[in-house]
Amino acid sequence: MNLSDLNKVAVAMTAPGKGILAADESTGTIKKRFDAIMTENTEDNRRDYREMMFRTTEAMKNHISGVILYDETIWQKAKDGTPLVDIIKAAGALPGIKVDEGTKPLPNQPGELITIGLDRLADRLPKYYDAGARFAKWRAVIDIGKGIPSHNAIHSNAHALARYAALCQAAQIVPIVEPEVLMDGEHDMAQCEAVTTWMLKETFQELYYANVPLEGIVLKPNMIVPGKKSGKPASVEQVAEATVRVLKNCVPGAVSGIAFLSGGQSDEEATAHLDAMNKIGNLPWALTFSYGRALQAAPQKAWAGKADNVAAAQRAFMHRAKMNSLAALGQWKADLEKKAA
Ligand code: 13P
Repeated sequence: MNLSDLNKVAVAMTAPGKGILAADESTGTIKKRFDAIMTENTEDNRRDYREMMFRTTEAMKNHISGVILYDETIWQKAKDGTPLVDIIKAAGALPGIKVDEGTKPLPNQPGELITIGLDRLADRLPKYYDAGARFAKWRAVIDIGKGIPSHNAIHSNAHALARYAALCQAAQIVPIVEPEVLMDGEHDMAQCEAVTTWMLKETFQELYYANVPLEGIVLKPNMIVPGKKSGKPASVEQVAEATVRVLKNCVPGAVSGIAFLSGGQSDEEATAHLDAMNKIGNLPWALTFSYGRALQAAPQKAWAGKADNVAAAQRAFMHRAKMNSLAALGQWKADLEKKAA
């Protein structure tokens, strides 16, 4: 492992005013997104949709540091035959790859999940490196509910994240470590804070046991928000303060950068929360975005599966990328959203 090169990539992924486009939806997940815009989930439609974003040159050049791809996309060619990876690289962004193979029920723990995909990972990583991937992603999923999470779910998922991270670094690929505490459910903000703290503490302990140098990872955490069904909304300032508090308690300063998931927040909430955290400032790590839904919901709606709508979809993508880029600098303002509407 060359740590200095890994660190350069991790720093580039979280460079000032830039963030990551999570376009790594599995074929099943993108089907849900396409169903919502009444678009058939074919290989060509998936390619056209993603090509549309990767060719939004201004957004990619100025606001996007890297793109997380799904296995299908990393091998896919654009309509004119150019590999999609080359389009991303030409725009100055880094290609990345989701390497987990989804989740399975965790045995003896009803309602809990374990992320799978470690068994052949050491063989798969060099192929992704040769295809251009310079970083990877693995998502652990922790749900809050009656009697859960269990220690077993926290521990097994943290352990898998650490094994994945060590394998990535050995293959000269920067691991995005994503321990996601879900925002579905009835729990309040304090429960989200307690469980996220537990999961992050356990994750960094396991990373330590696995000898993973933190200068060569990017952390992708959830923000501290109340459960969607809690009926107790929180203000932007409350979310920002709680999230910064948890990160300060759990994340060593050696971590090069933090790039949040959006997790089901609205587009504008995800932007406002990131902005408010960066306005607090004086933090040891860069705080930016690695959004899936909060970057893509608007362009998906504008595109609606029609070639005629590509320019409008690109404008929508450009707008969200720019808003989140300003938020990553703590320079976003709510009226900038209205002006664009
Ligand atoms: P969301 O921003 O839609 O949560 O997706 C980010 C991601 O990569 C989840 O694994």
